[in-house]
Amino acid sequence: MSIWTPSSWREKPITQQPIYPDLEALKRVEKELSSYPPLVFAGEARNLKKQLGEVANGKAFLLQGGDCAESFSEFSATNIRDTFKVMMQMAVVMTFAGGLPVVKVGRMGGQFAKPRSSDTETIGDVTLPSYRGDIINGVEFTAEARVPDPNRMIRAYNQSTATLNLLRAFASGGLADLHQVHKWNLDFTNQGEMTSKYEELASRISQSLEFMEACGVTSNTYRTLRETDFYTSHEALLLPYEEAFTRQDSLTGDWYDVSAHMLWIGDRTRQLDGAHIEFMRGINNPIGVKAGPSMDPDELVKMISILNPENEAGRLNVIVRMGADKVADHLPALIRAVEKEGQKVVWSCDPMHGNTIKSSSNYKTRPVDDVLSEMKQFFQVHKAEGTHAGGVHLEMTGKDVTECIGGTFQVTDEDLSSRYHTHCDPRLNADQSLELAFLIADTMKEATH
Ligand code: PEP
Ligand code: CO
Repeated sequence: MSIWTPSSWREKPITQQPIYPDLEALKRVEKELSSYPPLVFAGEARNLKKQLGEVANGKAFLLQGGDCAESFSEFSATNIRDTFKVMMQMAVVMTFAGGLPVVKVGRMGGQFAKPRSSDTETIGDVTLPSYRGDIINGVEFTAEARVPDPNRMIRAYNQSTATLNLLRAFASGGLADLHQVHKWNLDFTNQGEMTSKYEELASRISQSLEFMEACGVTSNTYRTLRETDFYTSHEALLLPYEEAFTRQDSLTGDWYDVSAHMLWIGDRTRQLDGAHIEFMRGINNPIGVKAGPSMDPDELVKMISILNPENEAGRLNVIVRMGADKVADHLPALIRAVEKEGQKVVWSCDPMHGNTIKSSSNYKTRPVDDVLSEMKQFFQVHKAEGTHAGGVHLEMTGKDVTECIGGTFQVTDEDLSSRYHTHCDPRLNADQSLELAFLIADTMKEATH
């Protein structure tokens, strides 16, 4: 294989990139970004890799979640806090009811660039370049907004630093203390059934904590009661941005992309000879690759050998996103091929991207029943194959949005218009996310008891 450098991807065919009209401005921004401080420290990426190694070995579970696309307009402390809280709720449900420690990774602090199915968007008789995420162009349907502007990368970096700063504060400053388990509930005016189910579980946890306190186990004595590890991730789609944050670690001399702890390759940019695989093979972070229905078993085995030649547990997360109607057909062959080669990976399920439909009211939506069904089948297939269903990858928010239909707190087709806020794909709201967490916990319990 040819020699890897942070810029060797530039020699390979590339898809899903913006065409910047001002190349001088692009160069200027790249240079500026490459002088900016890293968002994460390589040692943290190594810690995450170790924890994902536990997932690969069946001893932990990965919860990865957040917006489809972060945006400049929805940037607020409340949004960050509420998504953080729901992820804490989900993790505690899975740990307490499901019995496995949960590794928490946000699609946050950098999830700005979006692959699109078409390069252009047409409304009426006007055709414009597609919106590609706030790091590239604007969502407004005007010719001006849709011009890719490299300066947006600087704004995305600044927003990411502020997001990460707050996440770190939440993770270690008291909000993640298990004694706050009741405070993670979000106080919406419409309380769903899941809220009370969660309250019940939180009360049992509080009782256990009181008992442990009487035995001398307190937040003061145990860091894991007081703090959590919360990692960040995003799709490494916009390679000029990722290259600018690819730095050599001063402790080991290894290359890391320090724009996030974990990066993944999307289903549309995973060509074996393409630029994205080339870039990702050289960074030492834990990485993910999406696997949709067109992923062939031989192709996956080849991809894994390129991306994880040392067969390190925790290096590679295969994020399966088939759709509820395809997962049972496609997943067994992928698992068998990988198992046959003895390749160690974390298998996780993205039950969102294969289940997108147009509602009759013309909104892009996802039926919660399909989301739950794909998740369930993912567990069943792994059980049948004797492998570990290692994680879940979600588009979700702590906000009370109405973007996915169904769930115990029924969101109907008519409700979609009331709080449909996403900049890209529809997200599970807090209640729907909790419902999925309870389903995962029940399934994990069945598998381990
Ligand atoms: C995404 O995760 O937002 C995404 C675009 O997914 P995929 O690459 O699986 O389509
Ligand atoms: Co998406």
